[in-house]
Amino acid sequence: MLTSGLTASIALEKAGQMTSGQVVLVTAAAGGTGQFAVQLAKLAGNKVVATCGGESKSTFLSSLGVDRVVNYRNENLKDVSFCFRFLYLPFILQLDNISLVPVPT
Ligand SMILES: NC(=O)c1ccc[n+]([C@@H]2O[C@H](COP(=O)([O-])OP(=O)(O)OC[C@H]3O[C@@H](n4cnc5c(N)ncnc54)[C@H](OP(=O)(O)O)[C@@H]3O)[C@@H](O)[C@H]2O)c1
Repeated sequence: MLTSGLTASIALEKAGQMTSGQVVLVTAAAGGTGQFAVQLAKLAGNKVVATCGGESKSTFLSSLGVDRVVNYRNENLKDVSFCFRFLYLPFILQLDNISLVPVPT
């Protein structure tokens, strides 16, 4: 847990220079690192979009306060990100845990 939490913290706060009022995208968000990352991003006052593969993971991420969960088995991140950008802001910060999904910039 310590390693996962520190990894998320260093990635977002040191490498990503996370502030607040941003839209943060976290992929593989229900994993060991991702679940810390989404909570840290929310605590910092950001909107969080999180991807995962499965209903139980999706429910788990919603319980952590994620603003928009994308279960990639049912939805396309590209479509969701377009709507989310329209409603809020562009993704400013991405924590790509697996480099699985290329995110449009
Ligand atoms: N945990 C640490 O302490 C730590 C430290 C340093 C670096 N890292 C790096 O951070 C990244 C995430 O680590 P983690 O501990 O969060 O991993 P994890 O708990 O094992 O979660 C990885 C998640 O990636 C998703 N995934 C999608 N496609 C995959 C594929 N082909 N192979 C494997 N996973 C796939 C799966 O979630 P879905 O089914 O929801 O897609 C899986 O649950 C890794 O690259 C790891 O090397 C982790």
